[in-house]
Amino acid sequence: MKSDKWYFQGDEGEFILENPHKTSYLYFPLANEAGLMASITPSLHGDIKAGQNSFLTVPVSAEDLHISRAGRDFWFYIDGTGPWSAAGHFPRQEVDTLDDCGEEVKLTAGFLWHKVLRENRRIGIRVEITNFVPVNDDKVELMKVKITNLRAEKIHITPTGAVPLFCRSADNLRDHRHVTSLLHKISTTTFGIEVKPTLLFDERGHKVNEVAYGVFGAEGGGIPPVGFFPLVEEFLGEGGAFHRPEAVVKNPDVLHKAGESLEGYEAVGALRFRRTTLAPGESRSYIMVLVINEEGPAAGPAGKYCSEEAFDYFLQENKDFWRKKLSALQLHLRDSEYSHWLKWVALQPVLRRIYGCSFLPHHDYGRGGRGWRDLWQDCMALLVMEPADVRELLLNNFAGVRFDGSNATIIGSKPGEFVADRNNISRVWMDHGVWPFFTTRLYLEETGDMEFLLTPQTYFRDDRIMRGREKDHSLRPEDGNKLRQKNGEIYYGSVLEHLLVQNLTAFFNVGPHNKIRLEGGDWNDAFDMAGEKGESVAFTAFYGWNLLELGNLVCALQEQTGRKEVELAREIGVLLDTVTGQINYDSVREKQKLFADYLEMCRDKISGEKIRIRLKDLARDLRRKGNWIIEDIKATEWLTDSNGQQWFNGYYDNDGQRVEGEYPTGIRMTLAGQVFTLMGGAADDGRAPALIAAVNKYLYDPVVGGYRLNTDFKELRLNLGRCFGFAYGHKENGAVFSHMVVMYAYALYEKGFVREGYRVLNTLYRLAVNFPVSRIYPGIPEYFNIKGRGMYHYLTGSASWLLLTLRRQVFGIRGLWGELKIEPKLVKEEFTQAGEAAIRTVFAGKELEIVYKNPQALDYGQYVIKNVMVNREKINIETDRRSIVLPKKFLEKLAPGKVHLVEIELG
Ligand code: G1P
Repeated sequence: MKSDKWYFQGDEGEFILENPHKTSYLYFPLANEAGLMASITPSLHGDIKAGQNSFLTVPVSAEDLHISRAGRDFWFYIDGTGPWSAAGHFPRQEVDTLDDCGEEVKLTAGFLWHKVLRENRRIGIRVEITNFVPVNDDKVELMKVKITNLRAEKIHITPTGAVPLFCRSADNLRDHRHVTSLLHKISTTTFGIEVKPTLLFDERGHKVNEVAYGVFGAEGGGIPPVGFFPLVEEFLGEGGAFHRPEAVVKNPDVLHKAGESLEGYEAVGALRFRRTTLAPGESRSYIMVLVINEEGPAAGPAGKYCSEEAFDYFLQENKDFWRKKLSALQLHLRDSEYSHWLKWVALQPVLRRIYGCSFLPHHDYGRGGRGWRDLWQDCMALLVMEPADVRELLLNNFAGVRFDGSNATIIGSKPGEFVADRNNISRVWMDHGVWPFFTTRLYLEETGDMEFLLTPQTYFRDDRIMRGREKDHSLRPEDGNKLRQKNGEIYYGSVLEHLLVQNLTAFFNVGPHNKIRLEGGDWNDAFDMAGEKGESVAFTAFYGWNLLELGNLVCALQEQTGRKEVELAREIGVLLDTVTGQINYDSVREKQKLFADYLEMCRDKISGEKIRIRLKDLARDLRRKGNWIIEDIKATEWLTDSNGQQWFNGYYDNDGQRVEGEYPTGIRMTLAGQVFTLMGGAADDGRAPALIAAVNKYLYDPVVGGYRLNTDFKELRLNLGRCFGFAYGHKENGAVFSHMVVMYAYALYEKGFVREGYRVLNTLYRLAVNFPVSRIYPGIPEYFNIKGRGMYHYLTGSASWLLLTLRRQVFGIRGLWGELKIEPKLVKEEFTQAGEAAIRTVFAGKELEIVYKNPQALDYGQYVIKNVMVNREKINIETDRRSIVLPKKFLEKLAPGKVHLVEIELG
């Protein structure tokens, strides 16, 4: 089958793409939980690393992918024909690579392996190159190259595998690239080439390097290479290049044998294998092992992989591992392409846990780790994918909260690892406080684990104080990173207290229009130039919703545990003004004063004293604040333009001016301003249809077929953010930004606009799978640019949000403090031809396969729940016809370790 896009084959999400090399910027992730992170392209380009400071190969950005240098390669010198590259390099300069020399290329990829088949009929050979990362503790990428002779006569080949080695920090790409090559100690072993730099070298100081790198290899049967070309200079020859290396083109004898030492040069893992003869139809395999080892010589972990048998064994293990991991959430709806596509989406949160927001070719920023909001949002999906670890993960994350409501800026790669900011990033993102509650609430709803709210945790403390406005020069490294109380002891407060700190401080931290200050930015990282007078109405609405929901949670805490009071830090009493001395919420001045007093009180230490507060009073205070926000937004931010369109203003700029509305240059509108006001309830009084109509009119782009993040402001807004310097339609300036679009869909479903929610989600799917335009592999990218190309693939929070939206809204699987509420919001197009839609998911530790049956092909709104069968037995359960609740006791009785079938008949 020939196709102009990828297509799925089998049941495991495997896909095939013909001529993948004819699409630029394609890359695929190869990684494991131990932290090896690689990217690979159809021409075997990409890079391999374990972190910012340990790149095995040269770090690449998206634009480097079409520069033919420094990728993985494997060459065959064929007697009578000359050199031929399995990566698709054409050594003769006169050859136009765009015409492929008549080669046929086919990519097959699965979880998480990558295979390229390249066939050259003219020369009469075919190679299959398979790459993957074994799923164990080794930081190793494996590559198998299998060559087959397609000629009617025998051929003589000389194989040479070649992976250029970088072996240092990505910083050294431009910072002393040459000088750092002088640190290289290079040695040859029986199976390959090892590089261990002497020092880690930069201007801040030099340390002894402990990381070893290497490229090793063997023939399929385990026979080692016959020799090596470890130095780039010698491998390329004078005037040579990586796509035309002299050591291959001229096919000289090897220069170095095992057991040699060299130093002070750029290295390449170039391994020469025995010259051999292939009979017609005969195949031969070669294994390459690409290693980063932080605990000894690189050759250490390499040995066990140096044969075809080992390669195949570890590949199978890899496939089994990912199949099992992804089986935790399986969705079957619409058709098989959609269901398979969703498998790739389900992989994405796991990838972001491994890669953070750096380390794939588009993500050429950051130094590893990930941002605070990403950490929490990814947990939403991990809650479903990896539920066992989530409690610990969430608890650890709370240790990053500062007592002023902000949080640690630098988040390490291990759970709960927060690093003091020594890079002088004093930015505080005002949205950071909303996400922990959102995620924690989901956890509590699913598990009913109310005790979690009372679990003690520390607070983060570094030299950034007063919400980043001041620096504490007195802090010494030995003081550590935990908040202390007046008597010097480390202070602990409950998880609930952490949530209160984040949401209550936000309530008082307002700007001139009584909306929460924008500070260094909100979800839109690029609204970063309105730190003084800017305000985010969008996230004020989100905080308002949080405060209301926190109020509900506090009531649930009382109901579920019988507890009437909680202990909180004395300082928090100030923020609970309903209880301790009410202020006028309409007064910006009074709010700002209260907040300033609070910040002063917790400037460096806190008292350590606790107050007891009744849960009833706490809930009342929270609801009062939440309601005030929502009512205030309704009263002040609802806009009407001359077309009669109505929507919410989402922002104020650094001059204190309203951002959205009708301007001489056109309409100014943001999607964020609509998403969170809708989600937070500001449009509950009948305004939602108008808001949706305005979004459709101003933000939906019918040409591309997607919802844009904002309209074109046609102005460089130095009083709002850097994104207005970006070309319109790209990234945070008006791209179809998946993350915000999915959150919009979520809000629509939440408010009962099911058909509209479906329409919105569907736009993203259609864009993503339209390969001739989007040019990405299956999955959801961060955004689609003005031409509809998928950008920043894989590492995006939109994957978590999409899974959450499908599970919680579309399939309607929702926890009620440990009970299971099921309320489908599927439209008729989402049922398969057989009239079914199914989800396999874990709830309260039990694996459930929930199948909706809609034999009459009814739409949402037309069907009601008619029958419920569990494990083929009809159960009598109360239903309001739209939803059912499976009680905790019922769920507890289901046997563990089995998949339980829940069939729900709709009619
Ligand atoms: C990215 C960042 C996220 C940020 C967003 C908008 O989104 O990861 O933190 O809020 O850009 O600036 P993502 O890649 O998760 O879709």
